Amino acid sequence: MMNKLQKASYQTMWGERGKGIAAKLLHVAVFCFVLLYRAAAQGDFTSIDCGSTVNYTDSLGIEWVSDGNYVSTGQNAVIDMKQANVGATDALNKNALQTLRYIPGPAGKHCYDIRLVANKMFLVRVAFLGGNFTSGSSAVTSFSVSLGTAHWQDIQVSDPWTPIVREVTFYPQQAYWPICFQRGASGLPFVNSIEVRPLPLATYQVGLYDYILTKMFRIDCGVESGSTSSRYPDDPLDRIWAADLPGFSIPSFTNANAPTENLPFDTNEPPGFMLKSAWNASKIFFQWNMSSFPKGPSIDFRFYQFFFYFLEIADDLNSTGTRVLDLSIDGSLVDDSPITVMSNQTTVVFNVAYLGKDGLIHVSLVPSATSTFRVALLNGVEFHELQKYDMKVTTSPNAVTNIKAIKEKFNLSEWQGDPCLAWPYNWLKCSDSATSGSSVLDITALRLSGFNLSGKIPAEVASLTDLRNCKQLHQVCLKLCYEALDNNNFTGSIPDLSALTKLHTCEFHSLRLQNNSFSGPIPEFLSSLPLSVLTLDNNLFEGRLPAALQEKVDSGLLTLTAANNPFLCFGGNLCLQAQARPSPSTGNKRSRIVIIISSVAGGLVLLLPLLLVYWRSVESN
Ligand SMILES: *[C@@H]1O[C@H](CO)[C@@H](O)[C@H](O)[C@H]1NC(C)=O
Ligand SMILES: *[C@@H]1O[C@H](CO)[C@@H](O)[C@H](O)[C@H]1NC(C)=O
Ligand SMILES: *[C@@H]1O[C@H](CO)[C@@H](O)[C@H](O)[C@H]1NC(C)=O
Ligand SMILES: *[C@@H]1O[C@H](CO)[C@@H](O)[C@H](O)[C@H]1NC(C)=O
Ligand SMILES: *[C@@H]1O[C@H](CO)[C@@H](O)[C@H](O)[C@H]1NC(C)=O
Ligand SMILES: *[C@@H]1O[C@H](CO)[C@@H](O)[C@H](O)[C@H]1NC(C)=O
Ligand SMILES: *[C@@H]1O[C@H](CO)[C@@H](O)[C@H](O)[C@H]1NC(C)=O
Repeated sequence: MMNKLQKASYQTMWGERGKGIAAKLLHVAVFCFVLLYRAAAQGDFTSIDCGSTVNYTDSLGIEWVSDGNYVSTGQNAVIDMKQANVGATDALNKNALQTLRYIPGPAGKHCYDIRLVANKMFLVRVAFLGGNFTSGSSAVTSFSVSLGTAHWQDIQVSDPWTPIVREVTFYPQQAYWPICFQRGASGLPFVNSIEVRPLPLATYQVGLYDYILTKMFRIDCGVESGSTSSRYPDDPLDRIWAADLPGFSIPSFTNANAPTENLPFDTNEPPGFMLKSAWNASKIFFQWNMSSFPKGPSIDFRFYQFFFYFLEIADDLNSTGTRVLDLSIDGSLVDDSPITVMSNQTTVVFNVAYLGKDGLIHVSLVPSATSTFRVALLNGVEFHELQKYDMKVTTSPNAVTNIKAIKEKFNLSEWQGDPCLAWPYNWLKCSDSATSGSSVLDITALRLSGFNLSGKIPAEVASLTDLRNCKQLHQVCLKLCYEALDNNNFTGSIPDLSALTKLHTCEFHSLRLQNNSFSGPIPEFLSSLPLSVLTLDNNLFEGRLPAALQEKVDSGLLTLTAANNPFLCFGGNLCLQAQARPSPSTGNKRSRIVIIISSVAGGLVLLLPLLLVYWRSVESN
């Protein structure tokens, strides 16, 4: 029976922690206390009109703001709303849809800096309408959206004139909850609006704290198909309640006078207007093709959560009669005990189920044998797709701190969001929790190719304080595996990085500094680094190689190339007088830096990259 099946699947999904709430999940709400209707204030809403330059209040009283304070990348575009298929029924704000922000250029991830309150429930709604922006550039636009550190949705825009709206409810465990857009196979990522709504803690979560729920549909049953959807201020939580879906032709009735306000409920705070209409038929049956709803990324088996709302609104039914219903999904009863529909409180039936083979969800609702009233009734229904959100996988706090410092140093503020999750910045490589076996991700490579880093390396980079902490903790902090600063425009001498020599080493080591304008002598400490390759070509180094380095070269331990350093006395170099050299070039060599670092023990992940990237001195600007 469905009952067992659901409990079993539930335990598979949620493990030990889930068991405690399994009973609650399979749930018919009956409460003996009255919860007051907590109206969320509009002031708690965040409504971002992406691509807009103005703030305004719409006809519903929702205050929209331009996105300038949330994002530092991208460009604005205006689309031709006359061609857009945005009906009155959608309850979407056309003004907000009319502008979009898109992300040009090859860079990968771009983020909206969204701050939430940790350990509260939130609803986020994101809308995409490419219109003549996308139809002009690429037939199909594809990109991905992340929520916090989770890869949430892949967006495929094939009809540029019909909005795509994705809505999610979730429970963030930290306040910083960026929404990021990652470029896909074709076209440029864009977004028209982002709406964030706080929810009372009892809504939707039902114990699924590490799941995100993407709305598939939310129907205010009994509102004629084609009618306008309802939202704020009718629903203080600003959920959008659709009228009956076109495919569902189920008899219905409305009782505008039904006393639906301030009713007790245990979850989801159903709004009064939604309860005033209902489907009613001796058998309520509908099916929904879940396969037609885009599957969230990395979902193998599709699970969904449903909510059914019941309130007796028929005037001709009173305490002498009963309406008791059997609810079945895919032929299995949802609960052992039938649902008693009451007129003095809202019953919310919810559970988790998984999708049958044919992709269809079949719902049937009939009066049970004990029901004196032989007509079934349903006031509202919601289905959401469940997606596991692995909150345990995080980026090492040190990595986050160091990357933040690097971004500040080099004015890379356009890279926002988590450095590694859901996707690494395209100039970083991060460890993979699956292969490393650690849920804490480290930065393993830093690749600032083409970032125009130039100038002198400030002396203080050699004395970063983190190094000391690292030694005290006896951690194996950092391995220097490969580093390259070649094809850049660095000038000045290499500072003393000898402190690094005390750190652990790895199998392959090279230092590539070619194609820069480094000057000064080759520093002694390089001989104590575990290098097997040192590439110094095309620079302005001067003088002789340190004896220890020369020894390593002579004994075959080190491969050193240093062509075209006219003042360096090494190999076939000319070894001119350094005094005669011209001032360092500030030419336009291609910038290219590849620094690859691997670290262990979650320690000072980014110490060396920090050192190496520090090199863009203020003096060069
Ligand atoms: C789309 O068309 C409208 C109306 O013609 C125009 O104002 C707007 O600039 C166009 N947008 C783009 C991105 O081409
Ligand atoms: C639906 O409800 C209305 C009002 O209670 C009732 O008159 C009607 O008979 C019901 N329809 C069906 C099909 O039971
Ligand atoms: C459900 O939708 C999928 C994808 O749109 C489609 O391939 C499939 O045929 C549909 N199934 C039914 C039974 O309509
Ligand atoms: C129940 O409704 C019927 C028909 O409207 C009415 O005759 C009867 O008095 C009502 N009973 C009670 C207890 O309200
Ligand atoms: C609702 O009505 C039933 C039956 O009259 C009663 O037993 C129950 O206590 C009432 N519930 C509330 C919350 O008033
Ligand atoms: C590098 O800087 C030069 C001069 O400031 C600029 O023209 C060029 O576009 C920059 N290149 C990149 C990739 O940012
Ligand atoms: C150095 O720069 C030149 C000119 O841009 C380029 O052709 C060459 O490949 C670079 N050499 C190395 C080793 O990167």
